[in-house]
Amino acid sequence: MIYTPNQDRYGGKMQYRRAGKSGVKLSEIALGFWHNFGDVNVLDNCRQIMRFAFDNGINYFDLADNYGPSYGSAEETFGYIFQKDFKPFRDEMFIATKAGHDMWEGPFGEFNSRKHLIAGIDQSLKRLGLDYVDIFYSHRYDPETPLEETLQTLVDIVRSGKALYVGISKYPADKAEFAYKYLSDRDVHCLLYQGKYNMLDREPEAEILPECEKFGVGFAAFSPLAQGLLTGKYFNGIPEDSRMAKDFFLKKAALTPEMIETLLKFKKEADEKQLTPAQYALNFVKKNPAVTTVIVGASSAKQLEELIN
Ligand SMILES: NC(=O)c1ccc[n+]([C@@H]2O[C@H](COP(=O)([O-])OP(=O)(O)OC[C@H]3O[C@@H](n4cnc5c(N)ncnc54)[C@H](OP(=O)(O)O)[C@@H]3O)[C@@H](O)[C@H]2O)c1
Repeated sequence: MIYTPNQDRYGGKMQYRRAGKSGVKLSEIALGFWHNFGDVNVLDNCRQIMRFAFDNGINYFDLADNYGPSYGSAEETFGYIFQKDFKPFRDEMFIATKAGHDMWEGPFGEFNSRKHLIAGIDQSLKRLGLDYVDIFYSHRYDPETPLEETLQTLVDIVRSGKALYVGISKYPADKAEFAYKYLSDRDVHCLLYQGKYNMLDREPEAEILPECEKFGVGFAAFSPLAQGLLTGKYFNGIPEDSRMAKDFFLKKAALTPEMIETLLKFKKEADEKQLTPAQYALNFVKKNPAVTTVIVGASSAKQLEELIN
């Protein structure tokens, strides 16, 4: 069926925020592709989630080379659905990818050498079926590669037209500051820092978020629901189809009596505000003025509906 997007997609509840000191306005909720879009997932469900996101004003789509499983398959899923449904709307979409985590065999298959990053973006563009991405991130700090090598590669990627903007993810604060200065000295402003931020993990408040404000860099918050812990879905055990049931990225061991007590306290606060636990958790992240966009994961369009309401 030919996809006709919602005509009123920019007239609903979605708000847009400027990414630091830049010309880019991103939806305050972004759709992440870490889970739920791999070749192990049902393609039609992936398509429904993407359509729902776009129909409701989400303009930022967050991918990485190794999202799946299997590695690369989330980008392939995105590429397939993009060709079918979204090609006419490319200029309404802000598409991100990243490289730096383990991706292929051998010493060039991970981290931040020029060799890895250039091969990484070239492979991603093929899988996505795109000429360029809107933002390319260095996915993690590499303690062994000289930072200048990584950052110069980001500059060159922008100069080559393969990415319009660059960003960094999970860098320690001092390395992030070095990156912001190095990049802006070469007229390639760092658009976004991507880091984990939620009610259970407030670490970015100490250094990363103030530094973003100081340098005019936007902040993209990931795992705002602590991978689902903050949605309230684990109050009565572990649902079979949940991320925790896989016991891999979200460990069953996280569900301690102390954790349940904390989650119940959040639930009470959410109830008082007539919000669901997930909405309450997202509001916490959104209310920090240094945050540009909150990247959520969703395993169904129905879940996403709760998150944007
Ligand atoms: N830069 C990095 O290193 C990095 C690292 C991690 C993530 N990220 C980015 O951030 C994105 C989001 O991360 P995340 O997936 O951990 O985010 P999250 O939003 O904290 O967790 C998403 C999970 O919560 C559950 N959920 C969401 N809405 C729900 C609802 N309404 N009701 C019940 N359960 C709900 C779903 O899990 P179930 O499967 O249980 O349904 C969903 O997959 C990723 O996709 C990726 O793009 C980046």
